[in-house]
Amino acid sequence: MPPGADRYDTIGRAYASRRHEEPAWAHAISQALGGARRVINVGAGTGNYEPRDAVVLAVEPSATMLAQRARDAAPAVRGVAEALPVPDDSFDAALAILTVHHWRDPHHGLRELARVAARQVVVTWDPAASSGYWLNRDYLPELFEHEAAISSLGDVLDVLEVLEVRTLEVPRDCADGFLGAQWAAPEVYLDPAVRAAMSGLALLDQGVVNDAMARLARDLADGTWERRNAELATLASLDTGFRLVVAGT
Ligand SMILES: C[S@@+](CC[C@H](N)C(=O)[O-])C[C@H]1O[C@@H](n2cnc3c(N)ncnc32)[C@H](O)[C@@H]1O
Repeated sequence: MPPGADRYDTIGRAYASRRHEEPAWAHAISQALGGARRVINVGAGTGNYEPRDAVVLAVEPSATMLAQRARDAAPAVRGVAEALPVPDDSFDAALAILTVHHWRDPHHGLRELARVAARQVVVTWDPAASSGYWLNRDYLPELFEHEAAISSLGDVLDVLEVLEVRTLEVPRDCADGFLGAQWAAPEVYLDPAVRAAMSGLALLDQGVVNDAMARLARDLADGTWERRNAELATLASLDTGFRLVVAGT
């Protein structure tokens, strides 16, 4: 495995218990796949968002993540996006959900998606749109630096023949546990086990994160958070920056 590709052997230990498919996202991803019969899911993790009505091959570098796949999940091979172990044009669609920012060479990995499948469906985020999220803005500006250094929508637009970019809003009661999922339940971030399943937080300096969480706890206790984020109270969903990209032919 290339250095860093097995990072989820450490930070992914509780992935299956903390991270679940958000149905609204699963529906949008399924639509974007456009009825593809053969799908390769790259950076597949435990199998969230894999279509059930297609023949799927999952590719995933972390043994810890592979071990958490359900018994009836699609077959999976250990591998990385940058060297997909399949021939050219062997799939109808390639899927890459919440993974491109972990790749050692995102441009190379994205070119690999296009090599093996005519259509590519990628979920990533737009840093410009995520910068107003209250967690980043008021508690962890360090997330901006972290996000600036990693791959996002710009890399996808640079490499793939993009047909469409859709906003993936996060529902108030989001079933998945990614960073940004808890926009309406700020107290959930105070739980270290929840934060451990969010790579953006798990990979930051934990002293910085703990200080930020102490400030969040104080603001929740004295009503500051509620006053500052009053506009969130009536929203059913929020744009925290996630984008669904459909590319190819
Ligand atoms: C946040 S998880 C997303 C998993 C799954 N796609 C989902 O939506 O639940 C990111 C995944 O990317 C994988 N990953 C890291 N580096 C990779 C690489 N170079 N190629 C492919 N996958 C990689 C990690 O091991 C991890 O399983």
